[in-house]
Amino acid sequence: MEAGSPQPGHRAVLADAVLRWLDPRPGQVILDGTVGLGGHAAVLAPRIAPGGRYLGLDLDPEMLAAARARLAAEGVPGVELYHANYADFPAVLAQAGVSQMDHMLLDLGLNSAQIDDPSRGFSFDRDGPLDMRYDRAAARPALDLVNALSERELSDLFWEYGQEGQSRKIARKICQARQAGRITTTLALARVVESVVGRGEGGPARTHPATRVFQALRIAVNRELDHLARALAQVAEYLRPGGKLAVISFHSLEDGLVKRQLRSAKAAGQMQEITARPEVADARERQENRRSRSAKLRVAQRLAPQA
Ligand SMILES: C[S@@+](CC[C@H](N)C(=O)[O-])C[C@H]1O[C@@H](n2cnc3c(N)ncnc32)[C@H](O)[C@@H]1O
Repeated sequence: MEAGSPQPGHRAVLADAVLRWLDPRPGQVILDGTVGLGGHAAVLAPRIAPGGRYLGLDLDPEMLAAARARLAAEGVPGVELYHANYADFPAVLAQAGVSQMDHMLLDLGLNSAQIDDPSRGFSFDRDGPLDMRYDRAAARPALDLVNALSERELSDLFWEYGQEGQSRKIARKICQARQAGRITTTLALARVVESVVGRGEGGPARTHPATRVFQALRIAVNRELDHLARALAQVAEYLRPGGKLAVISFHSLEDGLVKRQLRSAKAAGQMQEITARPEVADARERQENRRSRSAKLRVAQRLAPQA
């Protein structure tokens, strides 16, 4: 993930580790399911030239436009961009006329260009509509959930996708606040959460009190865990033997899902995790990019099918 708008030379999260583990070679096919601002693409695509294909997918047309501009400005060769859900990657491979890929990369969640744009509704400290959709032409915005779900449903959502310890109290407070009118903006929701959790939790440098609620809504709006599970369930079928899957996750719900799916792929004799423990950012990267602090990279290799 990139910090801010695309800047030449700015490195994507765990880019060196991804490069080292995937070790891409000329002529290979890489499918980048979350191309975002093109940070990983800028590092990986030159390694597969000449003759390689880099297929970059994103649900967010604005990110695809930003990636296109960045990659052109940096002279990165041959990245093919698709407006697509990575859960549907087999359809993209078919469209590209590719039957098998050498590597697949998923750098999960959202990037800071999306967080920094208040009109996207991801940020709890800039006011904007409660939207949170990666693809604004699809799905229902967060305000639909916040205003339509029952107290019980909200509470379950905050607990299940945000592991929010005060989920019940927050859900009750939201339903009380709704009696005065719909909650339609990020700051209005953040204020309701703060009224339950308090502002001072963990000190100013620590987690914002609305972090877990916003995470939960974002996951639900974009059905993030469903898409991840669907992609992981299909990946072995489309990876060449010896090919690799790299997944960067940012919270335990994602990482837990990746770990479980890799375990069952191993039991099925399809994939073997090759990172003995997840790679994490070093001190320098953690210092430069706050979001890298929670990043975990797991890499698995496609095993040769048994004769
Ligand atoms: C962390 S960013 C990726 C950053 C990218 N690796 C880079 O270096 O610039 C994640 C991206 O995935 C996109 N995204 C999230 N869910 C997706 C999905 N199911 N299918 C495709 N793209 C998705 C988001 O719009 C966002 O741009």
